[in-house]
Amino acid sequence: MCGIVGYIGSKNCVPIILEGLRRLEYRGYDSAGIAVIRDDKFFIQKNAGKVADLAAALGKADGSLFSHVGMGHTRWATHGEPNDVNAHPHWDQKKQIALVHNGIIENYLAIKTKLLRDGHVFLGATDTEVLAHLIGVMFDECGDLATAVRLALSEVQGTYGIVVISPRDPQRIVAARRGSPLLIGVGDGENFVASDASAIVSHTRQVLYLDDGEIADVTCDHVRTMTIEDVDTQKTVHEVTLELSQIERGGFDHFMLKEIHEQPQTIHDAMRGRLLVDEGDVKLGGLQNTLGRLLSARRLILTACGTSWHAALVGEYMLEQIARIPTEVEYASEFRYRDPVINVDDVVLLISQSGETADTLSALRDAKSKGATVLGIVNVVGSSIARESHGGVYVHAGPEIGVASTKAFTSQLTVLALITILLARARGMARERGQVLARELASLPEKVDAVLSDTSTIQQIAREFKDARNFLYLGRGSNFPVALEGALKLKEISYIHAEGYPAAEMKHGPIALIDRNMPVVFIVPRDGIYEKVISNIQEVRARKGRIIAVANEDDSEIDKMAEFVIRVPHTYGFFGPILNIIPLQLLAYYMAVERGTNVDQPRNLAKSVTVE
Ligand code: AGP
Ligand code: GLU
Repeated sequence: MCGIVGYIGSKNCVPIILEGLRRLEYRGYDSAGIAVIRDDKFFIQKNAGKVADLAAALGKADGSLFSHVGMGHTRWATHGEPNDVNAHPHWDQKKQIALVHNGIIENYLAIKTKLLRDGHVFLGATDTEVLAHLIGVMFDECGDLATAVRLALSEVQGTYGIVVISPRDPQRIVAARRGSPLLIGVGDGENFVASDASAIVSHTRQVLYLDDGEIADVTCDHVRTMTIEDVDTQKTVHEVTLELSQIERGGFDHFMLKEIHEQPQTIHDAMRGRLLVDEGDVKLGGLQNTLGRLLSARRLILTACGTSWHAALVGEYMLEQIARIPTEVEYASEFRYRDPVINVDDVVLLISQSGETADTLSALRDAKSKGATVLGIVNVVGSSIARESHGGVYVHAGPEIGVASTKAFTSQLTVLALITILLARARGMARERGQVLARELASLPEKVDAVLSDTSTIQQIAREFKDARNFLYLGRGSNFPVALEGALKLKEISYIHAEGYPAAEMKHGPIALIDRNMPVVFIVPRDGIYEKVISNIQEVRARKGRIIAVANEDDSEIDKMAEFVIRVPHTYGFFGPILNIIPLQLLAYYMAVERGTNVDQPRNLAKSVTVE
């Protein structure tokens, strides 16, 4: 779920691991730990709290700690509260192996019961500690670390990315993956293991991505990969293109603010080389092999979680109304357990920033097993969803470090707009109409830039409402998902309760909440349903609710009704969400700053949810 970094080589691994853990902090975590081998013994330090606390504790315990092999972990608790004991690494009964683990061992209770019967004593409450004991038992039996890991994992159900080391065999690191990403960084006389390339990219760009069910036996100058059944596998070395500047804050106070401001560029990058303005058409290489199936699809099913699900909702409006293709949207977590009726002529589109979200990945596998064509709209290149799809489109937003997703969302919307134009044209939309849409899409980066150029009103609103307990976000049509996303952003980073609703639904219940203390954010562009939303604004005004409007630059009417107006340029209706969400991202950001919360690592959240 969270972060893993390991090192074996001639250098001192301690600073390498601490630096790697710092680079993984963005993923959200609650505890951190490190295990190294020194003089054929373990040195292990772990604690609840931040990597900085771990570094301070290490400094106090042994400032001159030096070791050639070790590993570190940031934990996002699933089993057992976030405290020092439950922090990783964990070790076995005889303390001969240490283990860090991302994911969940689902059958840990059954294994634990058996081990308890055999006299094992557990120190904490995690599923991980049980796996450590199981590997220890196997190690005792076979004496070979990689074999012990293999045998133990053959008894395990669940998801994992793990790294194991042992002072009995200090020349190797053993790593394994199922459902939780893990890669090997290949160096010169040194090798690395990490859950995410950003942890090691300052040392090497050569990586091997482990596949599900693979184990790696890593020494300082060799990497052997095999399946759980001990069949050797062949791996290709990939070059990581990530630049260090992409994973640093670059002068901004927070990653989230940096990423919000990157959007003119990232939206442009999502369209680059794909949008053919003169032809009024779109070219998407990743859909080439599946275009026939997309065009003959009986229906499209879009499935995702969180912010990516909101993007899917906007996509539904675009695909149905412009391309006229029946489209359904469903939470991936619900889709997978509903046993949905899927036909071979259905196309399922999975949307995911990380490409590793467990619920979305399971939905993909389910749909695929039922014969559907599955396509990914993914940001992280080489991620599981990207690799397991029949085809797809990368959104090319670059690394998104802030836990609250911002630039990935607008890039997802841009890609959905591209797919919409592509399908609409292939289904007979006139070139002239395609040109109008393409031109409008191409103009968006400039318009986003205009929204970002003056944030003073938004900052003023944040100061005014920083102590609010509740917020309501209302929008209609494709701006209803924008209301949901605006509310989610506020909840995630400022911890203020917020609800998103279709504006007309308000009178069916939430209107009971409106009083003089209730801020209500309306997304009210001048489109075909402008007047309808104005009526909803009047209903809130009549009950003394405090109105904040996101409205077009040329809308002078709105000043008479709203206490605060945030201006956005005009755009074609279905592309509006790409612009309208920007001020809501900023509002959430400045509210969080006013309230002094941890913007980039909000409490309880993880960047990529690889557990159910
Ligand atoms: C967004 O701000 C969230 N932190 C979260 O809802 C996220 O969008 C969701 O977990 C899906 O992640 P994915 O796009 O990586 O699949
Ligand atoms: N399930 C393990 C635990 O709760 C691992 C959590 C993680 O992925 O960080 O400790």
